[in-house]
Amino acid sequence: MDSSYDVGLGNYDSIIRNVANKDSIKFWESQAHNIHWFEKWHTALEWNPPFARWFVGGKTNAAYNALDVITQKKPDKKAIIWEGENGEERILTYADLLQEVSKLANALKKLGVKKGDRVTIYLPMVPELIISLLACARIGAIHTVIFSGFSAKSIRDRIDDSKSKIVITADGGRRRGTVIKLKDIVDDAIKNLDFVEHVIILEHTHNDVKFTNKDKRWDELVGPMDVCCESEMLDSTHPLYILYTSGTTGKPKGVLHGTGGYLTHVFSTFKWIFDIKDSDVYFCTADIGWVTGHSYVVYGPLMHGATQVIYEGSLDYPTPARIWNLVSKYGITILYTTPTALRMFMKNGDDIPNSNNLSSLRLLGTVGEPINPKVWKWYFETIGKKRCPIVDTWWQTETGGAIISTVPGLETIPLKPGSAAKPVPGIHLSVVDDNGNKVKSDSKGYLVIENQWPGMLLTLWGDDEKYKAVYWSKYKNKYYAGDYAMMDTDGYMWLLGRADDVLKVAGHRLGTIELESTLVSHKSVAEAAVCGVPHEVKGESIIAFVVLKSGLLSDAQLKEDLIQHIRKTIGPIATPDKLYFVEKLPKTRSGKIMRRLLKAITQNEITGDVSTIEDEASIDEIKKAIAELS
Ligand code: WTA
Repeated sequence: MDSSYDVGLGNYDSIIRNVANKDSIKFWESQAHNIHWFEKWHTALEWNPPFARWFVGGKTNAAYNALDVITQKKPDKKAIIWEGENGEERILTYADLLQEVSKLANALKKLGVKKGDRVTIYLPMVPELIISLLACARIGAIHTVIFSGFSAKSIRDRIDDSKSKIVITADGGRRRGTVIKLKDIVDDAIKNLDFVEHVIILEHTHNDVKFTNKDKRWDELVGPMDVCCESEMLDSTHPLYILYTSGTTGKPKGVLHGTGGYLTHVFSTFKWIFDIKDSDVYFCTADIGWVTGHSYVVYGPLMHGATQVIYEGSLDYPTPARIWNLVSKYGITILYTTPTALRMFMKNGDDIPNSNNLSSLRLLGTVGEPINPKVWKWYFETIGKKRCPIVDTWWQTETGGAIISTVPGLETIPLKPGSAAKPVPGIHLSVVDDNGNKVKSDSKGYLVIENQWPGMLLTLWGDDEKYKAVYWSKYKNKYYAGDYAMMDTDGYMWLLGRADDVLKVAGHRLGTIELESTLVSHKSVAEAAVCGVPHEVKGESIIAFVVLKSGLLSDAQLKEDLIQHIRKTIGPIATPDKLYFVEKLPKTRSGKIMRRLLKAITQNEITGDVSTIEDEASIDEIKKAIAELS
C-alpha cells in the first residue's frame, strides 16, 4: 500500500471496536444515551425476524433533538448558510430554525394533521425544505420527500401509495438558470386524488401559479402562527419518514424509518465519520430528496449543532468554478459529495480548483457509488492537497445511515483509494456466495449484514411481505444488500456495484424494470429491455432496447417521443443515453430478459454462458442494431 495515503485525524483507538464486537446491542444502547429521551427505553432491541424495533418503551422526538437541544445551549449558532443559484443568500440560526419549524408545525396542526398522518414534500433545496421535514417530525407526522427532479406521474404514484393528505411545494425551483415550475407539476400529479386535502405553496421563484381551493400560500398560512410548539413525545419506534426508492420491481418501494434507532445511528455515524467540531462549516452536496440529504443534511448535522452550507442549483453553474467558489467563500471545512460530481469536476481541469483558495478544507467525503481509484487520488491530491482524509461511505436508503466507512473521529487507519474500508463499529458484515457461505478474501461475492443495526428500516410502507422477500429471503437471518463486494486480506471492503437490476446513474438509484414498464406503457411499444453501461462521468448510463408493436416502423421521431415519454413519466434523471429498436430481446427459456447479456453485447464482451438463451438470433440482431446506430 502507498504510505502517502496514511493520513487521518483523531487517535487510533480500537477500544470502542472491541466493546462493539463483544456485544453490539449493548454497544448501540450506550450510543443511544447521546440523544435526548423524554422517557428511557426498557428493551434495547426487540428482534422478531426480520423486524427490528430499537429502544422499545423510550420516548423521543427527532425535531427536539435537531433543534431544541442545541438552541438551549447556543441559540445564535448558525445552522444554515443558504445560497441560491442566482446568488441570493440567507442565514438561519438554530433559534430562527426552531421558530420557523414551530410555526409550520402549528399550521399543519391547524390544517388537521395528526400524529401518523403522511405529508408529501416536493420542494427545491431551500431552508423551507428542512423546516418542513422538522415540522412534521415535531408533531409526529410522517414526512415523505420527493426529489424535485421527479415528474408528475412519479409524484402521483408516491402520493397515492402514502395517502398523504397534505402536499408542501413551491411555485418553482432553480436549475441551470431556468425555473422549474413545481406547483404546475403538483397540480398534474394530484388531479382526482381526493384524499389530498391541502397544498401549501412557498413563493420562491415568483412565477405565476394557478391557485385552487386546496391551495394555501405558505406566508399567509404560517406567518400568523404561534412561535412555540411543544414536541410530541413519540415512541422510539414511531415512523419518522417514508422515502421511496427504486428496486427490482416496477413500483418504487416506500422505505420506512423509525425514530429512536435511526437518530442514534445517524448521530453516532455523523460524529465518527466527520469528526464534527463546533468550528466546522460542513457542506453535503446531496439533495434532501435522497437519503443522504435526510441523514447527513437534516438530522445528523443539526443534532450536532453544526453549521452547514445549503446550495440550491447546479454545482457547475454559471461556471465550473461554482463549487470551489462556495468552498472558499464560506470557508467550508468538510465536503461530502458523489463520485459523479467529482468526475465532472476532474474533467473540468485542475486550473479551476487551483485558482480557488481551498485551504479551509480538512475532511473530504464521498457517497452513492463506487469511486474509481483515479478519481479518489485526484480528490485527495488536487482538492485535499494530501492533507485531508477521505471518507468513502457505503450505505443505502434502507440502512438509514453509513455502514462502511473510515471513522476519523474515532481512529486513524491507512486509506486505500477505492475502498470504503471497514464497517463502522457495531456492524458485522460478510461477503458470501449464493449459498450463504463466506467467500475467501479477495473474492467477489454478495454483501450481507449479519446483525441488526439501529438505523435499519422498519419495513416497506404497507408491504411487510415485500420487505421480507426483498431483503431476507435470499439468506436466513442475514440482510441482503443487493451489492457485490470483496473483502481483502486486511479486512477492507471493496464495493463492486449492484448485483440486481438496479442502476446507479449519476448516483441516482433507478430500477431497470421501472424503466422498462414505462417504455411499455407507450402505445407503440410491445416490449422493452434496459441495462446500464459504464459512463465516464455518470458512473452508469441507461441504454434501452425497444420492440415495437407489429406493423409499426421505427424512426427518429418515435425515438424522441419515447425518450420524452420516460422524462415525463419518471423524470429527467431517467433519460436513456441510447435507445435502439430491435425485433427481439434475448430471453432465457423461462422468459426472463437477459439484461446482463445485453450489457455485454453493447460492450462487445460476450464471454459468459448463453446456453439458456431462447433465441440466439436476437443476439445478432441487437449487435446489428448497435452497429447501425453507433
Ligand atoms: C451504492 C445512497 C460504492 C450501492 C446512500 C448501494 C455505493 C446503493 C456507495 C444505495 C459507496 C452507496 N461505494 N457503492 N460508497 N454508497 N453505494 O439507496 O450500490 O440511493 O446499494 O443510498 O448505492 O443507494 P441509495
